Amino acid sequence: MTKEDTEVYVCMNVDCKSRGAEGVLKRLDERLEELGMDHVTLEPYLCFSACQHGPNMIIPSKRCWFSGVTEEDINDIAEYLDGGAEIPRLTEHNDAGLKKLIFDIIDAGLLPGKGDFF
Ligand code: FES
Repeated sequence: MTKEDTEVYVCMNVDCKSRGAEGVLKRLDERLEELGMDHVTLEPYLCFSACQHGPNMIIPSKRCWFSGVTEEDINDIAEYLDGGAEIPRLTEHNDAGLKKLIFDIIDAGLLPGKGDFF
């Protein structure tokens, strides 16, 4: 069975970066490579307007918003992306209204740029 292509957006704006977003993105990229999960594409995102909760990561196809992500969460996130268990600690504090706003913006077509964020 072919795995479904999955995009993961990681905020690379100032607040999320100041809390370690670059390390999160780098470590997740490395882990996906180790696992051969080439059906997952990582994309830097400009900002989800959830800056105080970062680092933030969005998986549009799963309607998933992970907040407060650290490098210690990467193995669990990779498992989740491979069909594994949900990760309540990264979602349970998220505001429902803010989550709706994030997905409304993504659904409206504000997608990650292809600029050089790294
Ligand atoms: S800085 Fe990451 S959501 Fe705004």
